[in-house]
Amino acid sequence: MAKVKFFGEESIPLEMHKVRIVQKLNLPPVERRLEAITEAGNNTFLLRNADVFMDMLTDSGVNAMSDQQLAAMMIADDSYAGSATYTRLENKLNEIFGMPFFLPAHQGRACENILAQVLVSPGSVVPMNYHFTTTKAHITLNGGTVEELVADAGLEVVSVHPFKGNMDVAKLRDVIGLHGADKIAFVRMEAGTNLIGGQPFSVQNLADIRRVCDEFGLMLVMDASLLADNLHFIKEREEACKDLSIREITRRMADLCDVIYFSARKLGCARGGGMCIRSEELYRRMRGLVPLYEGFLTYGGMSVREMEALTVGLEETMDEEVINQGPQFIGFMVDELVKRGIPVITPAGGLGCHINAMQFVGHIPQAQYPAGALASALYIAGGIRGMERGTLSEQREPDGSELFANMELVRLAMPRRVFTLSQVKYAVDRLEWLYANRRLIGGLVFTEEPEILRFFYGRLAPVSDWQNELVAQFRKDFGDSL
Ligand code: F0G
Repeated sequence: MAKVKFFGEESIPLEMHKVRIVQKLNLPPVERRLEAITEAGNNTFLLRNADVFMDMLTDSGVNAMSDQQLAAMMIADDSYAGSATYTRLENKLNEIFGMPFFLPAHQGRACENILAQVLVSPGSVVPMNYHFTTTKAHITLNGGTVEELVADAGLEVVSVHPFKGNMDVAKLRDVIGLHGADKIAFVRMEAGTNLIGGQPFSVQNLADIRRVCDEFGLMLVMDASLLADNLHFIKEREEACKDLSIREITRRMADLCDVIYFSARKLGCARGGGMCIRSEELYRRMRGLVPLYEGFLTYGGMSVREMEALTVGLEETMDEEVINQGPQFIGFMVDELVKRGIPVITPAGGLGCHINAMQFVGHIPQAQYPAGALASALYIAGGIRGMERGTLSEQREPDGSELFANMELVRLAMPRRVFTLSQVKYAVDRLEWLYANRRLIGGLVFTEEPEILRFFYGRLAPVSDWQNELVAQFRKDFGDSL
């Protein structure tokens, strides 16, 4: 919690910033919300922002920037090659992570493309704590497979485990034993493990994984897209790190890795991405692909303005008071939901609040996409746009059968420094109403199902008249309220 203690009973997260630019929001009436989600094929990705009150789809590229970031954008040095902006970014990354080489890319998945093309070949195996959608897609596209080795606690929905993103070291040894070290392309650790609820791993776990990598001559790659949240949790929860600064913890983690890549849409609150690399040989192999897919080596598909913002954003990430805002707001929201008996992933992670749809709408079979249905219902109930993270986000098996996800979640992302506490309370209130009326929520069925990454633009319809019934109940309970 914030270092500021309240005199009264209440303990709430206190913003250590003030708001100086605002954007007007629109909350359409519930009838229009039903129309809008129908037009969007019950896919929250396809909603238009003009119809959305709280956009909790993602924290990617939508975090609030600081005055310092905006100011830095004005001094960007616009040139195709050799820009001073690039040098500033490279120096900052070097200072923070201590790796000698850097390659820019336009976003996180572009880094994954280059890493996978260079390191993954047919038959390769990539052990990781947990997959991310784009990561897995790039690895499988190059003929590799993913082995998810998150410790068992990571998949327990309700838990008090402080580091649910930890990899199980024994499972890693088993996988290496099974496939042989020569088949392992690299070992990947994802900070702030996205798909299991923004859960962190500990420095100790990373060190344990490093030891196994050293034993078998394997490379350790960290996906640092959600590193800011992970750093906050290490500082809060890992005894051995409690007296270290965020900068020192970052360096300790970086020293254990061979490659660190990131989406700057999350890390550094800008838009872009990049890869920090320890080995010159690997750097040279990867470098050739940057001009091919991204842009010249000194911008890699990023705008120079974003690069300036990123340089400042990375420095600001080293400030505990900056990076604790997201996790504290999420922690507040999770606590409020738990108090109301609403099933949610605990402990609170980073990135956002994750509603457990498997339990919230336990009456909807997984084949009717309970998390997708709940995301649709929440938009109708409150104009709140969340993201399905369950079976809908999986790909079908080669024989056409559904691959049921381990977890059925609705992710309510908390873009950093964007929402006020009253907006968060509003979201809690609408969730409370929806939970009381959860029996009204029914399933969804595909009307248009793309083959690849179907969750992005697939279209679905309700299996019954349940959405109209939900709107009628809303009017009954809320009168003429928006
Ligand atoms: N790795 C992680 C852990 C991510 O969360 C993301 C993106 C990426 C890689 C890919 O980065 O979007 O810049 O290409 N996550 C976003 C999300 C899309 O909404 O969680 P990107």
